Amino acid sequence: MRTYLVTGGAGFIGSNYIRYILKKYGSSIAVINLDKLTYAGNLENLQDVSESFSEQYTFVKGDICDRELVSGLFRKYEIDRVVHFAAESHVDRSIRDPESFVVTNVLGTLTLLNAAKEAWSESDGSFQPGKKFLHVSTDEVYGSLGETGYFYETTPYDPHSPYSASKASSDMLVKSYMDTYGFPANITNCSNNYGPYQFPEKLIPLMICNALAGRELPVYGDGLNVRDWLYVEDHVRGIDMVQEKGRLFETYNIGGHNEKTNIDIVRTVIKVLREQLDDRDSRKERITEDLICYVEDRKGHDRRYAIAPDKIRKEVGWYPETDFEDGIRKTVSWYLQNEQWKDHILNGAYQSYYDEMYGRRERM
Ligand code: NAD
Ligand code: TYD
Repeated sequence: MRTYLVTGGAGFIGSNYIRYILKKYGSSIAVINLDKLTYAGNLENLQDVSESFSEQYTFVKGDICDRELVSGLFRKYEIDRVVHFAAESHVDRSIRDPESFVVTNVLGTLTLLNAAKEAWSESDGSFQPGKKFLHVSTDEVYGSLGETGYFYETTPYDPHSPYSASKASSDMLVKSYMDTYGFPANITNCSNNYGPYQFPEKLIPLMICNALAGRELPVYGDGLNVRDWLYVEDHVRGIDMVQEKGRLFETYNIGGHNEKTNIDIVRTVIKVLREQLDDRDSRKERITEDLICYVEDRKGHDRRYAIAPDKIRKEVGWYPETDFEDGIRKTVSWYLQNEQWKDHILNGAYQSYYDEMYGRRERM
């Protein structure tokens, strides 16, 4: 049985990843999810998983910066794979509070690297065969593009926000461990994700939730910034494929040639919500483009991101399976069918879920 240590598994992409690997590999794997449950961590994202896979799935509430805890996990479990999602992930928050981004994204990554290195090292300095660390990162480390061009794995790093600077630093630390110690790792740099369980601070879920509440839809600047959108299930499948088929020590960009301006995204969300809402739903008539409200631009706002996914396609055989029309319909439909999930976030109830589920049990 192979054991995965997944960090940040109670967040958006991590929870989709855990669901994906448990469904794919079933009883041949065990998953330990280490998550601090910040505002972005939500155990309701994994309620189905903890019920259906109770034998194989273990949740540990804790901080990746906690050296004792992290090393203790490597001592307690025979960990084969680390898949590292845990991060502070929102650019706007990083502009207001850069420090927590450096602590979690940089120092937290260093703590994990050190614990894995120590646990996986042989006495001659080599690493136990089969052990692998996958560092999940972002295309934002490459900076901003003009009207043309793409990010390749060879594009020089040029981060602009405190978020992307902290992710770039963590990538550099992983690279340095590979180069210095031969530490067995891969890095993936992915474009903007969307899909079920995304916290409603990011563009697409925020627009869905605001529209349903009849609130304004804030579009930064002229609304013409471009992001390259990828359905989250395509991302998590890519991460799995890089571990299975990728070359160790390599970086792979993940993205699906799906560039959209922000204003296009907002208009599409309005259109799809109107298509999917029942005519008897009183919210429907208020959801029009009149809700769109142009607001002050984000500081240092990157203009355009676009990934060249040639390497992962050629070496790993990965390509996106969900086109945007399909993905956005599935996403809006998920938010409409899971209004309780959204309401628990809006009223704060999701944060008491841990105590209800685990409060009376032994904590590590
Ligand atoms: P998220 O904010 O939804 O989830 C982050 C998770 O990490 C939360 O569950 C949170 O509780 C946990 N966490 C935060 N600090 C922690 C700490 N110190 N110790 C343990 N757990 C901690 O983020 P996401 O959107 O799922 O992103 C996951 C990863 O993917 C991040 O590393 C992010 O940089 C990267 N990424 C995200 C996107 C995207 O579009 N969302 C795109 C490319 C890469
Ligand atoms: P976001 O979802 O925060 O992702 P990132 O900044 O990591 O790309 O934002 C996506 C784009 O949408 C980005 O160009 C900023 C813009 N945006 C808005 O126009 N309004 C909003 O309320 C938010 C949250 C983002």
